Amino acid sequence: MSTKLMALWEWFDARMPSVKQEYKKHLTEYYAPKNFNFWYYFGSLALFVLVIQIVSGIWLTMSYKPDANLAFGSVEYIMRDVPGGWVIRYIHSTGASAFFLVVYLHMFRGLLYGSYKTPRELIWIFGVLIYLCLMGEAFFGYLLPWGQMSYWGAQVIVNLFSSVPFIGPDLAVWIRGDYVVSDATLNRFFALHVIALPLALLGLVVVHLLALHDVGSNNPDGVEIKKVKGPDGKPLDGIPFHPYYTVKDIVGVVVFLAIFCVVIFFAPEMGGYFLEYNNFVPADPLVTPAHIAPVWYFTPYYSILRAVPPMFYSQFPGVLAMGLAVLLLFFLPWLDRSPVKSIRYRGPYYKIALTTFIISFLVLGYLGTVPTNAWGQFGPWLGEAERCTVVARIGTILYFLFFLLMPWYTARDSVKPVPERVTS
Ligand code: HEM
Repeated sequence: MSTKLMALWEWFDARMPSVKQEYKKHLTEYYAPKNFNFWYYFGSLALFVLVIQIVSGIWLTMSYKPDANLAFGSVEYIMRDVPGGWVIRYIHSTGASAFFLVVYLHMFRGLLYGSYKTPRELIWIFGVLIYLCLMGEAFFGYLLPWGQMSYWGAQVIVNLFSSVPFIGPDLAVWIRGDYVVSDATLNRFFALHVIALPLALLGLVVVHLLALHDVGSNNPDGVEIKKVKGPDGKPLDGIPFHPYYTVKDIVGVVVFLAIFCVVIFFAPEMGGYFLEYNNFVPADPLVTPAHIAPVWYFTPYYSILRAVPPMFYSQFPGVLAMGLAVLLLFFLPWLDRSPVKSIRYRGPYYKIALTTFIISFLVLGYLGTVPTNAWGQFGPWLGEAERCTVVARIGTILYFLFFLLMPWYTARDSVKPVPERVTS
């Protein structure tokens, strides 16, 4: 550093020494396990995508109009007339899908290596809260372009709340601010999307990372590196986060950006999975689209909703199942009774259960993209209307069994001895 810069830094440091202390605590003197692998890219990538979404979102807000009469047109104006507007919009819409993809892979890592187990329960709980916030953020944001899918998607989802016994109908009106999705709904969803939920997300990410840095990272072996320290008091299997993992994470960011740019420039709609075709049609409260389907990241839960049969003409059982499917994640640290963390040292029961869970999540995800009225149109072996429903029901049962039987199969699973030190 040049002498002038050093002098400026010393001036700053004399007045605010906590910056240097925090820098050391969280970067140069934060010891992370030396055996991080591919799965450990996704935390930093999630952070990177969060920044992308906030920055591109700020730019979109400069030209977007949260008004039912102007919203659709203002998005077209961004796409056609605002210099660089199209790229900012595609960054934001692709970023939403990338965010979920990265977060799903990040959560899967947690399941692989038991990262939610003691002493990391709070990291996990903050993670699930982030996931819930992210779902809300995506749902509110989706109404803003005021296309047919925005409008009818919001209509369907908010209507689900009206199935809640006793308070349902009032609850739905309270959420919408009207008897149907309208300008009032658009305004409040805008407020929630651009300020309330991003603030909550940022706060949750901060506590997620603080909790992580208090107990230290898990790793692919599930070994606690703090247990074996050298004479200098530093974990023998740890390396300083900076520069070692900052450099590793930059490689992840570069690869991510390469893929991200290919999508933005060559396939921003991703065949209707990232931007649904029906959403290029302005919202029309008088014309219901034939196929209302959420964006891919919600489809596993949408399938669960559709798989559970109504009771007394009420959708509530499906709504309850959908809510439970997400809420069960909170209890994972206490449902898992295995004495080991990492899948490397677990027995066949957990491996089979996790594989079945992932397959059912993917199958449910696929079925959620299939239009409801086509759910019966496949399959020679079950007659008309049943095949998708049957598969979705099996998927839903397997999804829930992963959690509900977990105390049983994790306690009985055979385990391999966990080494004292990390293995690679
Ligand atoms: C905005 C979203 C999120 C961000 C920015 C984020 C960020 C991070 C970062 C930077 C790390 C440390 C690096 C790494 O282990 O990969 C981490 C660790 C962790 N995260 Fe997240 N995270 C997010 C969402 C989630 C979600 C949704 C969950 C689970 C439901 C979760 C669970 C965890 C766990 C258990 C760890 C510790 C992993 C270990 O030590 O093995 N995170 N997170």
